Amino acid sequence: MRKNVVAGNWKMNTTLPEGLALAKGLDEALKGKTVNCDVVIGTPFTHLASVAAAIDTTKIGVAAENCADHDKGAYTGEVSAAMLASTGAKYVILGHSERRAYYHETAEILKTKVNLALANGLTPIFCIGEVLEEREAGKHFEVVEEQIKSSLFELSTEDFGKLILAYEPVWAIGTGKTATADQAQEIHAYIRKVVAGKYGQAVADDCSILYGGSCNASNAEELFSKADVDGGLIGGASLSVDKFLPIIEAF
Ligand code: 13P
Repeated sequence: MRKNVVAGNWKMNTTLPEGLALAKGLDEALKGKTVNCDVVIGTPFTHLASVAAAIDTTKIGVAAENCADHDKGAYTGEVSAAMLASTGAKYVILGHSERRAYYHETAEILKTKVNLALANGLTPIFCIGEVLEEREAGKHFEVVEEQIKSSLFELSTEDFGKLILAYEPVWAIGTGKTATADQAQEIHAYIRKVVAGKYGQAVADDCSILYGGSCNASNAEELFSKADVDGGLIGGASLSVDKFLPIIEAF
């Protein structure tokens, strides 16, 4: 059975003391609570080791927000998947639309990053999603299908089975404009069909597909009630315990 997952993506927010306080606050808030989903927090590189040491990582998984597309070597300023794994991080967000748009990450680069993440025992949270013009032109299905095929479909069945997918329509990210639960369900079901076409129904049924884009305490429950929406990748609302906890509890 696939897992429900609520993952925060802090993006480039919080200093180290602020991030530690946020992570510890969440850890404290979850103590003694039983939740019906896996909880993950995606922090800046600089926070990973300290956050992983400060919280109960059996209850809250730690994610990086990117990794290098090389194994090691003379790549000044880059952070490798092996380095991330050595901090205690268990996940890495890859293919976020902000990385694709602002840092020109191509399908080919992302394929390499996914491979390196998996080779180092990290679970990629792989993001896909269309921009507004593509949605308005009715091209969202083909856009996400191509994003999946071009970066992921050379993986073995075993490796594909380790991924988490996150559908994040770019027009909904940070805009306060959420996809409706029906829009999310429609495309999540399509994504699962695309996966089933390549890896078989069992693999598709086991694949967690998260929704991201202005997901918050008021809309999470409706989104998560949909059959093919297995959780959320949360930006802004993951930056405070008060806003993030109700999303976790929406399951
Ligand atoms: P918001 O929740 O701030 O819209 O961001 C979503 C996102 O990009 C998560 O990766």
